[in-house]
Amino acid sequence: MSDTMLRIERSGALTGSVEVAGAKNAVLVIIASLLLPRGKSVLTNVPCSDDVGQMMQLLTALGAEVSFDKETHTLTADTSMVCRSAVSAELMKKMRASVLVMGPLLALMRKAEIALPGGCVIGSRPIDLHLKNFKKMGAVITMDGESLTASAENLHATTLVLDYPSVGATENILMAAVLTPGTTRLVNAALEPEVMDLVCILKKMGASITIEAPATIRVEGVTELQAVHHEIMPDRLEAGSLLLAAAITGGDVHVVNAHAYDMDVFLLKLEEMGHTIIVGEGGRGIRLLATQNPKAVSFKTSPYPGFPTDLQAPTMAALCLAEGVSVVEELVFENRLVHVRELQKMGAQISVDGNKATITGVDALFGANVIASDIRASCALVIAGMVAKGVTHMSGIHHWKRGYDALEVKLRALGGHVEYVEPSCVLPQDLTTIQPVK
Ligand code: UD1
Repeated sequence: MSDTMLRIERSGALTGSVEVAGAKNAVLVIIASLLLPRGKSVLTNVPCSDDVGQMMQLLTALGAEVSFDKETHTLTADTSMVCRSAVSAELMKKMRASVLVMGPLLALMRKAEIALPGGCVIGSRPIDLHLKNFKKMGAVITMDGESLTASAENLHATTLVLDYPSVGATENILMAAVLTPGTTRLVNAALEPEVMDLVCILKKMGASITIEAPATIRVEGVTELQAVHHEIMPDRLEAGSLLLAAAITGGDVHVVNAHAYDMDVFLLKLEEMGHTIIVGEGGRGIRLLATQNPKAVSFKTSPYPGFPTDLQAPTMAALCLAEGVSVVEELVFENRLVHVRELQKMGAQISVDGNKATITGVDALFGANVIASDIRASCALVIAGMVAKGVTHMSGIHHWKRGYDALEVKLRALGGHVEYVEPSCVLPQDLTTIQPVK
């Protein structure tokens, strides 16, 4: 694992225009979906992140020919030769999204042999909802230690009800259902914009899918699907992070390709903090003009269209300097407040009770040596570092590289002081936490 760190220095007000990359949470499942048709599919606007590299390796291990042009952000996958149904534990452990090959493999090969997936340490993250519903579709699941085999001679369509609108379970079941004869109704489905991007590519492939109220996805199974071209949607989570970077530094940033209508509750909270949000025609493009006196706001994370859990940590970073007391409740993941400890090292005043964090705004944050514990925590710490007095060094940057495509380059272009450094280049005095002045 890399020892490289991110060095973040206090930056001026971020200003300018910026484009976000293709959505990480859409592209991973969409790469898995390319297993469904036989032939050569092409994806454009693919972010160049470590997780995309992992997903490419996974498809290759199953027999697909996959290539990626980093210059044009174009991924090509020829799945004509896919012949295997087993994924090694080594590949599965690196990323939770690996579990998303289960649905396509079950539908195509009638068998999926995987290991329990890995990923960020943000809770126990079981896959019981995936398995329970594959069983209802007729799959037989056997577990041997960490290895899991699902097999089904014939999956059958039925009505499935999710106890909780899990994004991954919705996507996995949907990919199995599109090639299962009959009508599958998935009730209490996740309807995140990234799930909708999956629905969009599956329909292009020839799947028959309709969305019905309340939160139900109806699928009429077809016998085969065609290879397609598809452009990945812009990353709303990267867009939110850039807007927060503008907000915390008192800046003015225009995210030209962000889809505002995917981010309503988050944008509402930015407005409640006192920032001005200007949305382009048709909801395309978001500009944030920061207030110099942000106010505390409270929110609870929830499935879409509620406040996204993936923006909880970066938003908390911005609330550390807001006037008043904010209360943030994490209701999606059980262990997603690990960044609090690191923000406290920077002088933030936060107390935690279970999954609830109470943040009392302070006048300043201070540079410190911090550790990123997951993808979104890494983003929160970079944002906090850009406004902290002194220098922040962040380790654990494999999380940053897993989730973002050169976000540090975009932040620099807007005036942020964020760069990779080798530990050997870090001066001893830089590694001393600057203590907040009481
Ligand atoms: C996806 C996103 C992740 C985001 C999350 C919620 C990807 C690659 N990742 O993760 O960035 O934070 O959606 O928007 O798209 N759960 C169960 N049993 C299951 C499945 C889930 O209990 O079988 C629980 C999880 O532990 C968690 C909650 O449901 O507490 C939400 O998980 P889920 O929506 O499935 O998230 P992911 O698909 O893993």
